This record gives sequence, structure tokens and C-alpha cells, in this order.
Amino acid sequence: MSTIKACIFDLDGVIVDTAVYHYKAWKRLANELGFDFTEEDNEKLKGVSRTRSLELILQWGGITKTDAEKEELATRKNTWYVDMISKMTPAEVLPGAKEFLELCISAGLKTALGSASKNSGMILEKTGIAHLFDVVIDGNKVSKPKPDPEVFLKGAEGLHEAPENCVVFEDAIAGVEAAIAGGMKAVGIGSPKVLYEANLVVSGLNEMSLKKLYAL
Ligand code: BG6
Ligand code: MG
Repeated sequence: MSTIKACIFDLDGVIVDTAVYHYKAWKRLANELGFDFTEEDNEKLKGVSRTRSLELILQWGGITKTDAEKEELATRKNTWYVDMISKMTPAEVLPGAKEFLELCISAGLKTALGSASKNSGMILEKTGIAHLFDVVIDGNKVSKPKPDPEVFLKGAEGLHEAPENCVVFEDAIAGVEAAIAGGMKAVGIGSPKVLYEANLVVSGLNEMSLKKLYAL
């Protein structure tokens, strides 16, 4: 008998593809500062907090800024990002994500969001899926970034479930590591070559089934 009672989902890259919006906004900021970075570099920003992302980008551009200047730059980027996500629609939910969430709920499993983003509320609302989560833990509620397990442990706590009864769905290496560090099972969304630490890797939630979930 499976002991799985709850599923905790990362947002960016698992439920919605917001990486492209983060990329456009960071790229605009870098360009204003007089340099550029590639889409390949952008991969290194997935799952990484806003503050840490900015630090990496400034490093790529060989630029040093004071804390006050960094604060202003991060706010500037976020204004552009929010402008883009405020126009998101339900059509931008990744294939199979809504269906799998509904399947989990109909099977009596609890659901939580576990995201580093401070903008998760707007994304869930614009894409019309907020009602599918019992608990939402995001960047506004945690102080330690992934791979620290804080975000997922708070999710499990909010759902009143023991970590070992929870499965985390993640597209970032740091997120898979956070799940494992928290004593949970991890399903990687992406490439097995990258997410090899996960218990199972699928290319998207459209490949998930209850059978695969209970076999973990
Ligand atoms: C993560 C994204 O989910 O959230 C990162 O993968 C992003 O790219 C981080 O930097 C923080 O998001 P936000 O919306 O608070 O800037
Ligand atoms: Mg992600």
C-alpha cells in the first residue's frame, strides 16, 4: 500500500512556463546596464531566488553594485516581469498540469504549491488554478532558498502531512535536492540527465499518472 498522501508542486517550469518572462525582464535589465547574456546562462537562473539571480547576472556582466542599487535593480526587473505575468491566461498552464492536479484531488490527495516566487498569487489567479491548491507556500513565506527544504516542509506542515508521505514535483536541481533534504520523494520535470537525483523523471505533468505516483 502506498503511503503517499500529498503532492507539492513547484510553480515556474512545472505548472506554468514563466522562465521566458523572467528571461525577457532580466535581459532587458542587463541590456540597460550595457551587456547581454544567453538563454543558456538563463538556465542557471531556474529555481534561483530573485536576489541571487541578480547577483549572478551582475557577475556575468562584471558589474559591482551596492546593496541599495541591487534593491533598485531587482525592483525594476520585477516591475517588467509583473507587467508580463499580469497578462497571462489559463491557456498558459503547461500541458497536463491542471488535469493531473484534478486527478490528485479526485483521488483524495492533498495539494500544495511550493515556489520561490513572490509573484505566485498573481500567476495562480491569472491562470485560473488557485482553487486547486489546499496550501500555498511561496517566496513571501520562506527565508531560506532551495536547496534548503524549508518551502516544502512548510507545505507539508500546512497540509498536516509527514514529509515521507509527500511527493514534490520540481524542474530545478536545487528543488529536487530540497525535496530529498526534506525527506520527501521527488519527481523531476525535465531531463533525467540533469535531474538524476529524483526518484522519477518525466518530461511534463502530462506524463504523470496515479499509477506512477503510487509506485514511487
Ligand atoms: C522561481 C523561478 O520559481 O522563482 C526563478 O524559477 C525566480 O527564476 C524565482 O527567480 C523568484 O521569483 P520572483 O517572481 O519572486 O522574482
Ligand atoms: Mg521551477
